[in-house]
Amino acid sequence: MRSTLEELLNKVNIVDIVSQHVKLRKSGKDFLGLCPFHNEKTPSFTVSIEKQIYYCFGCHEGGNVINFLMKLENMTFQETLENLAHEYGVEIKKGGTKRSNSFDAMLKLADFYHHNLKDTKLAREYCARRGITSDIIDEFKIGYSDRSRLKIQTFMKNSGIPRDVLLNTGILRVKDSDVYDIFMGRLVIPIFDVNKKIIGFGGRTIEKEGFPKYINSPESPIFSKGTTLFGIDKTRKYITEKNEVFIVEGYFDFIALYTAGLKNIVSTLGTSVTETQLTRLRNYTDNITLMLDGDEAGIKSALKLIGRLSDMDINGNMVVLPDSHDPDSFIKKEGIEGLNRVINAKKPIMDYYFDYCMAKWGVETLENKNHFIKSVLPFIEDIRSGVKKRLYIKRLSELTGVEEHHFREEPRERTTEGPSGHFISSSMIERRVIGALMGKPGMLGILKEREVINYIKDAEIKEILLNMCEFFDKKGSMEVNNFINVLEKDSLRVLVTNAVFDVAGYEDNELEMVLLDYFKHVEKKSTKDELKKITERLFEAEKRGDDKEIVELLNEKKKVLAFFKTNQ
Ligand code: UTP
Ligand code: MN
Repeated sequence: MRSTLEELLNKVNIVDIVSQHVKLRKSGKDFLGLCPFHNEKTPSFTVSIEKQIYYCFGCHEGGNVINFLMKLENMTFQETLENLAHEYGVEIKKGGTKRSNSFDAMLKLADFYHHNLKDTKLAREYCARRGITSDIIDEFKIGYSDRSRLKIQTFMKNSGIPRDVLLNTGILRVKDSDVYDIFMGRLVIPIFDVNKKIIGFGGRTIEKEGFPKYINSPESPIFSKGTTLFGIDKTRKYITEKNEVFIVEGYFDFIALYTAGLKNIVSTLGTSVTETQLTRLRNYTDNITLMLDGDEAGIKSALKLIGRLSDMDINGNMVVLPDSHDPDSFIKKEGIEGLNRVINAKKPIMDYYFDYCMAKWGVETLENKNHFIKSVLPFIEDIRSGVKKRLYIKRLSELTGVEEHHFREEPRERTTEGPSGHFISSSMIERRVIGALMGKPGMLGILKEREVINYIKDAEIKEILLNMCEFFDKKGSMEVNNFINVLEKDSLRVLVTNAVFDVAGYEDNELEMVLLDYFKHVEKKSTKDELKKITERLFEAEKRGDDKEIVELLNEKKKVLAFFKTNQ
């Protein structure tokens, strides 16, 4: 019987899955794109449709479709398997995991809050005042947590989720042997990940004296504020379609814009955009527009991104709303037409900053000019694209009348992309052998016959080869996307996927040559080792004057030499 895993690997096409997250283009037999796991400008992320694996030549990350999704979405093997199985209608043959329990708990909590909201007039009125209709409440599964401990106790009893799993969410807590809920008195907004699983909640107080205005559910293995993109579950497809994303900073800003029809948006959880968030968004688009309050703090946080954006080849634009409106209040006042007007006036972050500094300092006096240059220049230096940088320097020069060459610095050392160096531990040749054997697993027989494995020093290569022999004996086939599942260490999986791409251009007979040459090489080397040992023992025997031993050793040496010659 085939396992769930095998059935899935057989059914799912890795190119379909990867291209939901990475823009791929065809390149020979393979597909090529920008790696979602590290920042790069030239694509080194390769997907083989034939072998159903991926490999990044920049950051050395590789595997099958399950490994890809695990890494991308930071999920366990079991969760990824379950998600995919669900999506592809494959029956799961084994039980769940701890983490899926915690997803279950989150879902049950969301239902609980959602029903509470419907039962609570006060909370419904708050929503109505803010233009949150019952359709919106349902679409976003918004809820409310009231202050009834009895309700919480009843929920805990009836939820079907073990008490410790519920308490592990950090949302329900025990104090003086009584349970309470951190969201009491708050509207509760579920935060979904890209697979539509609830990973956390935001809670907004609806009480006059409520403080702080917002709290989030605690950070956990499935939830962290700095990496979360609120709303991405709903808007991913619009972002890809429009090839642009607008970033806002609040739940209600997201909800207001989304329901007004601007759908290619995400929201941070009130923090400024982090590098991880940028990396995630870059899987969908390279046009990012920040929609910020026009205060100095907002601009400063946008400016901090200039270097990163430019590194990642992202076009970073800014839209600033007038009169210290936030997107929510602005669209309520000016409607979608007003919003579109502002959006159409968006500018690159750097241009925005130029204007901002010009308004702040001007270039009338020498001192102001100096302030202006000092404010702008460090950010120009952060731009990595030579062309863009030169254009801004030119602009700075024109605005201040200072010649361009005063602003030019020595070209900076660029570090190479990806973590280099530490990866290549096994020799190229042994990696190539593994690649060749993946393609010609029939030759594993010769490998075993000649006991090649005994002569291999590298522990990783040895482990892979032993696993290959066992796998091939059991399955009678050697599909790499299946095989890598039996490897227990990530480094081995990476090594194997790398090896397979390494020999991708080889013809069958060339693969055979690689293997035969290698087998010969190993034998030669082992013969040499043996001869060396015999010589050492001969030396000792001669010193002792042990004639019998000397004769025996000489005979042994002859045999080894004869074997060596016939195998040349
Ligand atoms: P804002 O203070 O701008 O609130 O915080 P808002 O989104 O306009 O909220 P409303 O309209 O008054 O309801 C923006 C975001 O910052 C986070 C929340 O994610 C919020 O949506 N925040 C804000 C907190 O985490 N804690 C706070 O105390 C305040
Ligand atoms: Mn607001």
